[in-house]
Amino acid sequence: MANSCFSPHYNCALLTSAAFSLLMITLISGWPTSSAGAESHHEMVAAESDVAARAGLEVMKAGGNAVDAAVATSLVLGVTNAGSCGIGGGGFMLIYWAKSHRFYGLDYRERAPLAATPAMYLRDGKPVEELARSGPLAVAVPGELAGLEAARRRFGTMSFSALAAPAIELARNGFPITPHMAEDIDLTAGKISQDAGFRELYFDDSGAPLKAGAIAHNRKLAALITDLDNNPVGQFYRGKIAHQLVDYMHRRGGVLTLDDLAEYRPVWREPISIGYRGYQVYTMPPPSSGGVVLEILAMLAAGPIDRSPAGSPLYFAELIPLMRQGFIDRADYADPAYVKVPLTRLLSAKHIAEARAIALHHTGGPGITVAHDHGTSNFCVVDREGNVVVVTTTINTIFGAKMTIPELGLILNDEMDDFTVAPGVPNAFKLVQAAANQVAPGKRPLSSMSPIIVMRNGRPVLAAGGSGGPTIISGVVQVVLDELDFHLDPQRAVAQGRVHDQAAPDLVLVESNLPAETSEAISRMGYHVKRVPELGAVNTIAISPDQLQGAFDRRKGGGVAGD
Ligand code: DON
Repeated sequence: MANSCFSPHYNCALLTSAAFSLLMITLISGWPTSSAGAESHHEMVAAESDVAARAGLEVMKAGGNAVDAAVATSLVLGVTNAGSCGIGGGGFMLIYWAKSHRFYGLDYRERAPLAATPAMYLRDGKPVEELARSGPLAVAVPGELAGLEAARRRFGTMSFSALAAPAIELARNGFPITPHMAEDIDLTAGKISQDAGFRELYFDDSGAPLKAGAIAHNRKLAALITDLDNNPVGQFYRGKIAHQLVDYMHRRGGVLTLDDLAEYRPVWREPISIGYRGYQVYTMPPPSSGGVVLEILAMLAAGPIDRSPAGSPLYFAELIPLMRQGFIDRADYADPAYVKVPLTRLLSAKHIAEARAIALHHTGGPGITVAHDHGTSNFCVVDREGNVVVVTTTINTIFGAKMTIPELGLILNDEMDDFTVAPGVPNAFKLVQAAANQVAPGKRPLSSMSPIIVMRNGRPVLAAGGSGGPTIISGVVQVVLDELDFHLDPQRAVAQGRVHDQAAPDLVLVESNLPAETSEAISRMGYHVKRVPELGAVNTIAISPDQLQGAFDRRKGGGVAGD
């Protein structure tokens, strides 16, 4: 099958560093991939990195389950896709556990430092958004390692150090810079080249950014992950690493403390779901925007969404106002520990009918370009027991706060920018957010990350998720519609041209791979249209009893590995 790696089966007991060194040669020799989709029968990983997908598959071939694979894949992504995610960030993990037929949601999103206040981003009484996007005040308390370890302890079967071995090997011995990573380095070179850690990682001796295909290393990160041994939480959140991190932040004017790290806890949350045209769609609850995806789908279910061809103007005429309405209602979403999110009302039949009725076309207003950004990573895993895991993980914008702890090889997130930094001030994704999402000590910022698992007749049929800030919400909705309503296979579903409307700015973004006539038709509907090269990236696995079909998104690159 396409895009799979497949060296002899590894025995669990043989998952030593040496075995993984061999594995890494196999992983890297498979790069780059030629096709965006693949099929298999037993187990599969679809990810934004071919090497990470293969590492996850190898873990399952060695006897690990989908959660084990998710831990290994996440850690590898933090090395190979370090512009998007890593242990300096955080994420969401949605799990379908086949044996119990139950869903679990793990929130390991970053939280605001306990000393954080909205005033932190004001200078002379005026908001300075940049402070939330780069430098020490942009950094929220990382949740990644605490989350991966909580998932592994509850569902995993392998030791943390065994699951960390592929990431350590790649960081220590080198990995090829993908075209996507090269683009991330280029796009941010002006800023990240100011940081000693980034200079060491991604620039050559003459100071030029590394190009696609060059071999990069992060030996300090390899040492850090090796030091975590089988106690990642103790070491990172309370041990020597915590002291190094906090000392460095203090010296640079940050507010993160040892207490922030010691008190960080991931949260198990009950996933939410709705019925959609014979399917049951599950996702993460707040502070995820999964509920917005559900609301858009529920509004669509009441209309003739599948009666016009996929990608046709009639389809977009139905989709765009409902997508826009979903984003308007997103204003009610925030960290549920701080704000009562009216989820039951928002997803009630009454509200869905009303929201559908008021989802009118809007006109007027200036167009603003939404940031083209790549700082998040999604992947889907299915194992041979039928367990399904979807992870979306992030350091927010490309290379997060554009700040490393050089001696740790650690790249820090800028997740504070996902808060409403000041009323009426848009964030990096031009989202003008509500008071519900204001900065408060210990609070988690609202996220667009929306991992999805779809059931039919009591069994999983689809896993999906994406990256790209708010275009995650619109991207996931459209790929789910393409698969469920238009019966496109994953590769075609992901490749379809997409649109995005987040209500403010008053603008419909239309991907340039959609025909010009389609964007002209959308414009004639009364929308301000802006054609953009591409929106966010989505990956997905379609699941049937004897077959798995997976696809990664060519917009960002990646891989599908299965057997
Ligand atoms: O959680 C969020 O909504 C953002 N931090 C996601 C950022 C993102 O997807 C960046 N682009 N790919």
